[in-house]
Amino acid sequence: MTAAGLKPAPPATLVIFGVTGDLARRLLVPALVNLRREGLINDELNILGLGKQDLDDEALRRALAEFVDAGDPAWKKVRARIFYLRGDFGDEATYQALAARIGPGNVAFYLATPPGFFGEIANKLAAHRLLDEGRGRFRRLLIEKPFGQDLASARALNQSLLKLADETQIYRIDHYLGKETVRNIMVARFANPMIEAVWNRRYVDHVQITAAEAVGVGRRGRFYDGTGALRDMVPNHLFQLLAMVGMEPPNSFAASAIRTEKTKVVDAVRKLSPAEVRKNVVRGRYDAGRVGNEPRKGYSDEAAVDPESRTETYVALKLYLDTWRWSGVPFYLRTGKALARRDTEIVLQFRPVPCALFGHNDVGGLPTNRLIIRIQPDEGISFDFLAKLPGPAVETAPVSMDFRYGDHFQLGSLTGYETLLYDIMTGDQTLFQRADAIEASWAAVQPILDVWSRGRDQPQSYKAGSNGPEAADALLARDGRAWHSLEA
Ligand code: BG6
Repeated sequence: MTAAGLKPAPPATLVIFGVTGDLARRLLVPALVNLRREGLINDELNILGLGKQDLDDEALRRALAEFVDAGDPAWKKVRARIFYLRGDFGDEATYQALAARIGPGNVAFYLATPPGFFGEIANKLAAHRLLDEGRGRFRRLLIEKPFGQDLASARALNQSLLKLADETQIYRIDHYLGKETVRNIMVARFANPMIEAVWNRRYVDHVQITAAEAVGVGRRGRFYDGTGALRDMVPNHLFQLLAMVGMEPPNSFAASAIRTEKTKVVDAVRKLSPAEVRKNVVRGRYDAGRVGNEPRKGYSDEAAVDPESRTETYVALKLYLDTWRWSGVPFYLRTGKALARRDTEIVLQFRPVPCALFGHNDVGGLPTNRLIIRIQPDEGISFDFLAKLPGPAVETAPVSMDFRYGDHFQLGSLTGYETLLYDIMTGDQTLFQRADAIEASWAAVQPILDVWSRGRDQPQSYKAGSNGPEAADALLARDGRAWHSLEA
């Protein structure tokens, strides 16, 4: 048992398809090292990387060492359990060799490949009986995002996977769910009656969910140009945050109870009519500018981007949840690349006081209470309220109570994948997307995709390093509101 009271994961093989890609090096291997340090995996976890390159075990170990500390004893232990299998994902021989290598035990197959391979790999694994469970062993399929490109393709992928494996074997990954502060939203709400008591339409005026990035598309131009900000961030990451904010208290902390409550939220997103899409959804694309001190080229000059494409790098939208708790409360979501700074946060703006007693004739002149949940980078929660200015007059001043995660807890350098990998190995599906939730998410954004695919207009431009396009400010200004500043 470890300090946290958790047992190490059971003996298993983690097979990583696409082990030579970025994900394995940057995130999965550092996460495995962190798990090893905590005693949550041990020598009974083997890692078998599969790829097309001509490597051997040692060469793979060297390639995977880039983001870990070479002298770390935990890395040395993980390193010794890493093995390589060369093979083409479409080749029968690959799966024969794989069957021989993994033997009869527990296996988690991690599809860290481009999405085009998901169906084919799953089919081949099933055809070779590698997904058969029974005799006390598990066989699990882990699918990275993007899970589909729209509602129809997500449905088709679900249907084909569910013919090959049971829902309990499928782990659809959204790495936002591995983030400490995302999981903390549930604790903040359901462990604190004072917070939960005001978490509803009676007290909340509106909610803002922001995932701003300072980085541009970098080397991912080819992927990104065919995807865009909406598909890349909204039905997955932003909707995970939306679900955590919007959900009802689950009956228990069991995976099925939590997943059911979250799915109900996404199901309750009111579908936008084409006219509402045009009015309530803003898409933008960055032009050249400066992020901090760094000059940044415009999106259409990025490598592997088609200058004629109409791909958006920013999206802002206004949604409503048709639920008892949230009826009539607007949720404003925004995400974009090459913005002023990295900032993922949720803001609950509370309603104004019913009448102003202190120095204001007008309630509208008083700043209202605000609860800000900062997901990253500076994880924490702050609460903005009014206090009396010292002195004989009764005047108010805005102040803030601020909780910073780092002041109270050791956050270490977690990648977010630690919990996800541990949960996969121990069979806890709480943090993974169920088939119906994925489809509900795509169903909610499909009207936007439909309108955009018919239109000919280019996204609105915004300067790299700014807060996004002006139309996004206008979206809130029309309702008499404003975005929480990214520069705050
Ligand atoms: C990924 C997107 O899923 O999430 C990227 O494909 C994005 O475009 C990334 O940059 C953001 O993740 P994080 O953890 O940096 O907020």
